[in-house]
Amino acid sequence: MEENAFETDRLRLRPFAADLSDLDALHEIQSDAHHMRFYPHPFSREESRAWIERSLDRQERYGYSLWVIEDRRSGEFLGNCGPIPQVIDGVGEVEIGWSVTPRRARQGIATEAAAAWRDRCLGPLGMDHVISLIRPENVPSRGVAERIGMTVWKETLHGSERWLHLVYRVDVAPAPG
Ligand SMILES: CC(C)(COP(=O)(O)OP(=O)(O)OC[C@H]1O[C@@H](n2cnc3c(N)ncnc32)[C@H](O)[C@@H]1OP(=O)(O)O)[C@@H](O)C(=O)NCCC(=O)NCCS
Repeated sequence: MEENAFETDRLRLRPFAADLSDLDALHEIQSDAHHMRFYPHPFSREESRAWIERSLDRQERYGYSLWVIEDRRSGEFLGNCGPIPQVIDGVGEVEIGWSVTPRRARQGIATEAAAAWRDRCLGPLGMDHVISLIRPENVPSRGVAERIGMTVWKETLHGSERWLHLVYRVDVAPAPG
């Protein structure tokens, strides 16, 4: 992808800054025990730093990655969202991931960012489908997947803990005719 940012109605999406200047804002969210209740544990600062470094590395290698979500008007850091390569049951897939600050919960921000990435993945990036890996009890995240037209495709054991995850999926629309 040539561009290094794009905008939606309310949001600006851009890669993480290489100078790690997003670390404080990201870590404030990822160290919040309630926000991280569906992960193995809240992140340490080192884990948040590694999260950004992995995102930068994926951006370099694949041309896409988890990107920062900012408020278009205020520039406030709202979270991150974007495509991530995954291997599910031995097969390469692209997952769209999302996380939004609890301060701005339930305003449709994750849905707006994820829908924009869905359209880029299934459009200019040329993917024929994308997935999202979600623990069954993560009701907020399931809501985002469903709002962007994903449906449950299958179940898998995923992550270092091998926890059960639903694999949500949405496919590119068939060409007319
Ligand atoms: C999941 C998450 C990104 C949702 O962000 P958000 O911007 O608040 O989501 P949206 O406002 O776009 O909500 C979309 C839909 O999800 C569902 N939803 C969101 N938050 C919910 C909540 N607290 N309880 C129940 N349903 C919820 C609703 O169906 C909602 O649509 P509605 O508000 O019109 O009813 C956010 O809660 C988060 O960052 N959670 C922690 C990190 C995480 O679990 N990430 C996903 C890992 S798979």
